[in-house]
Amino acid sequence: MVSDLCISLLSPDFDRKGFDCDVPELNDFLSKRARKHMTQRMSVTYVLHKEDECEILGYYAISMAEIRMIDLQKELIKGLPRHPVPAVRIGRLAVSKSHREKGYGSELLWDAIERALSLSDQIGARAIEAHAKNDSARKFYLKHGFISLVDDKNHVYILMETAREALERLEEPDTESD
Ligand SMILES: CC(C)(COP(=O)(O)OP(=O)(O)OC[C@H]1O[C@@H](n2cnc3c(N)ncnc32)[C@H](O)[C@@H]1OP(=O)(O)O)[C@@H](O)C(=O)NCCC(=O)NCCS
Repeated sequence: MVSDLCISLLSPDFDRKGFDCDVPELNDFLSKRARKHMTQRMSVTYVLHKEDECEILGYYAISMAEIRMIDLQKELIKGLPRHPVPAVRIGRLAVSKSHREKGYGSELLWDAIERALSLSDQIGARAIEAHAKNDSARKFYLKHGFISLVDDKNHVYILMETAREALERLEEPDTESD
């Protein structure tokens, strides 16, 4: 995590209305529905911010989900019971338009992945899924190792084991830079 940045649970202390990622639906969710969803236990929202500052630089909302077996590649469902596959959903993920391309989206995504991995040690969840809003968002997820479902290229997922390997690689010390 970059120096003074933190990821915290969304609380009333943060400036939800000041957040603008250029996607009205994602702005509205944060300002009007994210807190309610938390009370209703529908999803939990985490925000990226600077230490002791209330400006929201980015956020994601996370919940449980399931993926239909017919939507997954055949080789990924071999040997599994014929039930929907339990998953963790990154429902929404966005970075403020004035803070793009600084790695904040990746910070949020890896935090969500880490949280999902930790949860999957306690509650069955085989994959992490997300619905990319458009081609550009899909490219962002693909860049991080997600793959598209069979019939819906903007519905993307990553298996827990693949995510764990990717996270381990990320945490390995960079020996080539010496
Ligand atoms: C998609 C989004 C979250 C990316 O946030 P960001 O902070 O700009 O992304 P990062 O700086 O962490 O970029 C990480 C990598 O993804 C790539 N990337 C980021 N946005 C991308 C895009 N729109 N298309 C293709 N690649 C993209 C970056 O080039 C970078 O690659 P690199 O590591 O090789 O340099 C941000 O653009 C956003 O909030 N968009 C509007 C909301 C949205 O579409 N959310 C997606 C979920 S529905």
